[in-house]
Amino acid sequence: QKHLLGIEPLHPTEITTVLDVAERYVEQNRRTDKHSDALRGLTQINMFFENSTRTQSSFELAGKRLGADVMNMSMQASSIKKGETLIDTALTLNAMHPDLLVVRHPHSGAVDLLAQKVNCAVLNAGDGKHEHPTQALLDALTIRRAKGRLHRLNIAICGDIAHSRVARSNLILLGKMENRVRLVGPPTLVPQQFREFGCEIYDDMREGLQDVDVVMMLRLQKERMDGGFIPSEREYFYRYGLDGEKLGFAKPDAIVMHPGPMNRGVEIDGTIADDINRSVIQEQVEMGVAVRMAAMELLARNLRSSREATEGTMV
Ligand code: CP
Repeated sequence: QKHLLGIEPLHPTEITTVLDVAERYVEQNRRTDKHSDALRGLTQINMFFENSTRTQSSFELAGKRLGADVMNMSMQASSIKKGETLIDTALTLNAMHPDLLVVRHPHSGAVDLLAQKVNCAVLNAGDGKHEHPTQALLDALTIRRAKGRLHRLNIAICGDIAHSRVARSNLILLGKMENRVRLVGPPTLVPQQFREFGCEIYDDMREGLQDVDVVMMLRLQKERMDGGFIPSEREYFYRYGLDGEKLGFAKPDAIVMHPGPMNRGVEIDGTIADDINRSVIQEQVEMGVAVRMAAMELLARNLRSSREATEGTMV
């Protein structure tokens, strides 16, 4: 692949390759010397048009640990604020010869559009409600390490599915790897068209969590609800928040996941989130750095090969 814009275009073998390469970086990141040179000489620009803690910091660390020159564009201080369009901003940066562009944008499809205008590798760090591919890959690596496999698992994705790019990318990835995925949440937040992904839909947490191997909780994305129905947090926690009683319906060794940012007491009880015997939320963050290192290494390899091929034809 030239870019990483979503999980949709990836073949299962490509997903497995990213996870296998990431495993090496998990080991490297646990050492005192965390550096290697897969991106030496390359320039990485991070452009985040939406807030981020985990994704932005892990992409920055990933690039630096691989030897890239990393620049974080401050979008608040950029000329976007003076009316410059996304495409003009991209063309301006493209003229500075970056090799990797990492982009988060509130509009679905914006990152794909930008990728068509530049001649470097583009990584989607989350576009609207569409895709968040590195999140799904890091979730997959976390599941594979915790469960010893990434196929034939029963996985419940719970909460605000309608507004979640994390849910969408995970649904696609977990389906490609032949898992059974259930969506659990209020009908207003779990659109029936998600059945097209081959998953079952439940509006009762206890039924939805029955005998699952993995419980993935999602935040209510109020910022994407456009004035539509927003449930009361107390009522939502009572019916759909993960607590010990509801988790008791899952398998005894089921793991609990959350991509963050987490709203304790809304979609998840803080004691469950902090329970190191069940929660793998901190492991997800750790896997995020390794997966982003792997994704950038693989794209950089393709970029170098295609540039060498082009330069070869020009001789
Ligand atoms: N999971 C995730 O994308 O978190 P951030 O918004 O903090 O990057």
